[in-house]
Amino acid sequence: MLTTEIREAFLPYCLPDITDEEVNEVVQSLKSGWLAKGPRTIEFEKKFAEYVGAEHAVAMNSCTAALHIALLSANIGPGDEVITTPMTFAASANTIIHVGAVPVFADIDPETGCIDPDEIAKKVTPRTKAIIPVHYSGHSCDLDAIYEIADKHGLFVSEDAAHAIYTRYKGRMIGDNPKGAVSYSFYATKNLSTGEGGMLVTNNEEIANRARVLITHGMSRNAWNRYAKGGSWKYDIEEPGYKYNMFDIQASLGLIQLDRLEEMQQRRAQIADRYNRAFSELAAVKVPTVSEGTTTHSWHLYVLRVNPAELRIDRDQLIEELKERNVGTSVHFIPVHLMTAYSKKFGYKKGDFPNAEAWFENIVSLPLYPSMTDDDVDYVISSVQDIVHKFGK
Ligand SMILES: Cc1ncc(COP(=O)(O)O)c(C=O)c1O
Repeated sequence: MLTTEIREAFLPYCLPDITDEEVNEVVQSLKSGWLAKGPRTIEFEKKFAEYVGAEHAVAMNSCTAALHIALLSANIGPGDEVITTPMTFAASANTIIHVGAVPVFADIDPETGCIDPDEIAKKVTPRTKAIIPVHYSGHSCDLDAIYEIADKHGLFVSEDAAHAIYTRYKGRMIGDNPKGAVSYSFYATKNLSTGEGGMLVTNNEEIANRARVLITHGMSRNAWNRYAKGGSWKYDIEEPGYKYNMFDIQASLGLIQLDRLEEMQQRRAQIADRYNRAFSELAAVKVPTVSEGTTTHSWHLYVLRVNPAELRIDRDQLIEELKERNVGTSVHFIPVHLMTAYSKKFGYKKGDFPNAEAWFENIVSLPLYPSMTDDDVDYVISSVQDIVHKFGK
């Protein structure tokens, strides 16, 4: 049996990567007089749009807001059905309910964890208006197949790219020339973080314009410069909107994080590679499958799967064993259809989506973030190896 001396400090499963550059830029932003949405937010939108290759980018206070606005901007509402995956954070599906539509789940591909296009096709009805594919963990969905279904039935596609900044599908960045809308998250745990924050990108000018109005209460003119010399105090409310805008302190973090993204991603890829090499030798666990279409994985999450045929402990016990060794983990995700709000209102139940449920039973997200040292990575590897040796069949 291997023996690993237990490290003293707990290793969190995730940490944001903030340097003095971000700190200095936030200070500059605070000193500039623009605390709310201002020039830095505008600049971040511009640079982000250029980075991913979209015509418009609208910065918001979360990805949840962006997903909500995407559906509203595409006029999805009561009486409509929207298809999404149960293997996601609740936000992706909650926003369907927020606009008054019905969430319809389609099961996942049991190899990648992403929504299975064949399952989507089975769920299309005359009421279906949109699809929300989630690029789970940073692995791209099968976009060609999904857009083929969308084109055939005239459906709007709102991609949930909360995990997928930097991901490339068949060589093209997610968000490059999107046909519908693509939403990103800049939450504290994400590959690019502004603490809280999100971005909607689209090539559709109407959607971008409506989004800009909806995120500032439904105000007819850009409220951000109402107090500047060129601005005007006059405004109208075109429709009751939301208070979803990003503000300059967040954008100052975003600008620096965007500059540093390549370097941070290189480190994520190195760590994922070391994990892959070490864990692919163990029969008791399965490393993430990266399908051909995902030419670049963003490695937002490293989702290891337990192979129950080869391990005497289950996923929950594996998490406890790792915790005892001071290694933090998480589980992405508890399938959304099993949440009370969904079973109560829509009658979803255990057994409805067997692939997502089986996936959930066996997954654990291991620590993966740029500031992990090589020693941290080695420690996680030897901890998993140690547990597998102890509990392997
Ligand atoms: C797949 C997915 N979609 C949407 C969200 C919501 O992101 P935000 O916290 O920025 O609203 C998350 C958050 O973790 C997520 O994992």
